[in-house]
This record gives sequence, structure tokens and C-alpha cells, in this order.
Amino acid sequence: MTTLAFYNNKGGVGKTTATINIAYALAEIGKHILVIDCDSQRNTSRFFGGGEAAGVIEGIIDRIADKFSDGSPISRTRYPNIDVMLLDDVHILEEKTVRELYDFAVLDLPPAMNEYTSDILRLCDFVLVPIELESFSIQGLSNVSETLSAVGKPFCCFVNKYNKSVKAHEAMFTLARENLGDILLNTPLPYSPAIINSITADKTVAEYWRFSPVLYSLGGLVEEILQNVEKLDKLDKFDELGKAVG
Ligand SMILES: Nc1ncnc2c1ncn2[C@@H]1O[C@H](COP(=O)(O)OP(=O)(O)OP(=O)(O)O)[C@@H](O)[C@H]1O
Ligand SMILES: [Mg+2]
Repeated sequence: MTTLAFYNNKGGVGKTTATINIAYALAEIGKHILVIDCDSQRNTSRFFGGGEAAGVIEGIIDRIADKFSDGSPISRTRYPNIDVMLLDDVHILEEKTVRELYDFAVLDLPPAMNEYTSDILRLCDFVLVPIELESFSIQGLSNVSETLSAVGKPFCCFVNKYNKSVKAHEAMFTLARENLGDILLNTPLPYSPAIINSITADKTVAEYWRFSPVLYSLGGLVEEILQNVEKLDKLDKFDELGKAVG
């Protein structure tokens, strides 16, 4: 299982929207996804609306179940490949049984920078930072990058709500590219009414409008994320090899 966290201490940049749509896109290509809502606003878990307890983990080490008053902490959703849970204990991310059941854990973090978020980030494999192309969002990035470096996590940023008709966006995008280099993913997610409409209709964008242009961008972003995850896997293998040869 690879653990992906959507994080930015700035609010409203698209962490929840990305978590929902990227989890769905990964599920659509056959991956098994555990969505973990770490935000007390509970937007993501409300969207997925956890139903019955996920039978897959009925036998999950009683040890975990004991920690949660309602028994199994993971619920099934209306999507066959997606289960959901509220994060009550970050250590569930380390549980072998959970790690073997899912290809990806996709975490929606709150817009905060504190011990809680640092503890979660420490247990993630890769962090995705949505940013908007406006000065305050860009200025705040150095704090985010310091936090992520302090917890030693690889991360990438991606632009959300890109609007070609806003003159400043193009200049800001070029500036961000020049300064962030590889850290900035190439695919921006456009500002899209379909995204707002879909969430209001309680759907992912793909369900709401199969031909929405924003799906091309989401597809590009998912591809870039998967390439980064592949690089991480390779690095892990190098680490293992390094340890094996002493
Ligand atoms: N690409 C987009 N185009 C248009 N609207 C968007 C886009 N991405 C997100 N939004 C809208 O922006 C608002 C904030 O998005 P979202 O809730 O995902 O941000 P967030 O970072 O999770 O916020 P918070 O920090 O409060 O958790 C929502 O109304 C959402 O519909
Ligand atoms: Mg959110």
C-alpha cells in the first residue's frame, strides 16, 4: 500500500476535491483504495458516506478493532473499490493487514500545521500539495515545504483552479515552474464549474459528466502521481539492496 496525503495548511485550495476525484480515478483503473478523512470538517467521509463495515477487515486483528469503540473502523462505500474511514489512530497506517488489503491509502488532511498533521505526514509515503496561482498561496509554500522537509517526506505540488482567462495565472504558473522545477507537476487542474456542480450533486466529476474536459487534466495528474510513486518504489528497492549488501 502506498499512502498519499493531500496537504496544504492553506484552506480551500482543493485538498478534499482532489482526494475524492483522484481516489475515484485510481479505483477506476482497478486499484483498491482506502480513503482516510483526517479533517474534522468530515467533508470527504460525508461524500463517501461510509455504509456497512467493510467485511474484508472483519478478521482484522482484534487489536485494531479494540481501539475503536464501534468495532471495525473501516466502512464500505457505494464504490466497490473504495472503502473509507475517519482517522482515529494514525497507527492504522502501519498495520500489516491494512497495508496488504489496499493499493493506496488516500488521505485528506485539514488546513493546519500542527503536531496532528505532522504525525500523519510522517507515516505517509508521498505528499501532494494543491496550490492556487495567487500570491498568498505561493508565499505560504515555503512553510509547507519546511514542514515536509522536517518530517522527511517527498512531495510534489500541483496547480488547482487554473484559469487561462486570468492574466496573472499564466505568469504565476511560469514563475512557479521556474522556481519549483520537478516539484511542480506539469498538469494543472483547471478552474471547472463541473467540479463545483459535481460535488453539489454528490458525485465525482467523472460520474457527473463523463466528457468533462477537466477529466483529461485529472487523468494527466493521476499519471504523474503514479510515475512518482513508481520512482519511490525504485528508491525503496535500492534501499533494500543497499541494506542487503551491508
Ligand atoms: N478545480 C476547481 N474548479 C472549481 N472549483 C474548485 C476546484 N477545486 C476545488 N474547487 C472548489 O473550491 C472549494 C474548496 O475546495 P476543497 O473543499 O476541495 O478545498 P480544501 O483544500 O479541502 O478546503 P479545506 O482547507 O477547508 O479543507 C470548493 O467549493 C470546491 O468545490
Ligand atoms: Mg478539505
